[in-house]
Amino acid sequence: MDFKKELDRKINVVNEQLHKYLAVRYPEIIFEAMGYSVFAGGKRLRPVLMLSACEAEGGAEDDVLPYACALEMIHTYSLIHDDLPEMDNDDFRRGKPTCHKKFDQGIAVLAGDGLLTYAFEIMLKKAYVDFDSKYVKAAENTARLSGSEGMLVGQVVDVVSEGKAIDKDTLSYIHKNKTGGLIKAALMNGAVIAGADESVVRKYELMGDKLGLAFQIMDDILDVTSTEETLGKPVFSDEKNHKVTYVTMYGLEKAEEEYLKLCKEVNALAGQLGGEGCFMQAYCESLVNRIN
Ligand code: IPE
Ligand code: IPE
Ligand code: MG
Ligand code: MG
Ligand code: MG
Repeated sequence: MDFKKELDRKINVVNEQLHKYLAVRYPEIIFEAMGYSVFAGGKRLRPVLMLSACEAEGGAEDDVLPYACALEMIHTYSLIHDDLPEMDNDDFRRGKPTCHKKFDQGIAVLAGDGLLTYAFEIMLKKAYVDFDSKYVKAAENTARLSGSEGMLVGQVVDVVSEGKAIDKDTLSYIHKNKTGGLIKAALMNGAVIAGADESVVRKYELMGDKLGLAFQIMDDILDVTSTEETLGKPVFSDEKNHKVTYVTMYGLEKAEEEYLKLCKEVNALAGQLGGEGCFMQAYCESLVNRIN
């Protein structure tokens, strides 16, 4: 397998489908704003994870693609709202001015709302057209892990904890939810849509939990060690907002150690899932060295 070629192919498949979903129509400004943020850049981590997990469990790419695109829309909505002046107040994202800078705050709020509701329209359409309960389950996982047991509640505790001395459990709760939620949804729904057994889906959930925490620890590290050019978003955003992060709580060295330990555990779990040398395993391994 040519890893880079296959990664590019998966990203292209996702991007082509996203372009179809986000074709500009009346009222143009909202589809322009939604498309602006979705196509500004982005690594497409969550859709690639979902496609890879589905493939590892023997599922069909066409079946999972609507759910992968829907999750990228929800992720992009979370970024648009995260960057608003009322939240992290950041002016750059994916190498471009943030949605509220390019448009205005009202349109940025609505673009986030638009991406969230459109994601559910896409998933539910697939669920009723194909009429299989696995699609309903995947939509429920997405709702829960974006909301009451995932990204939303993580973001809430993140925002209300600004400037406060939180404990280790609270920090872990924030990271596992605000970032772990959607990463868990990606891996679990890939397996669900492939028709995997409940016990297998649980393994993907555990992997997502660890990868989500690892991913946010590295996000905290990169916030203080990288550059705006490499990240496509401002550095020292956490310090500016008086956030407790893995770096401020444990120090850079310990944060890096914890990151590597979690990555090892993710790769060990990935090694138990899917066929020997499958793309998902190679993709998880490649994430260890991410620089943006
Ligand atoms: C950024 O996510 C926000 C976090 C949850 C850490 P990504 O690092 O996946 O951002 P994009 O999608 O590549 O822009
Ligand atoms: C946000 O965490 C995670 C989201 C759910 C958007 P951060 O606020 O650290 O993400 P970045 O650094 O702005 O991408
Ligand atoms: Mg934030
Ligand atoms: Mg932020
Ligand atoms: Mg960050």
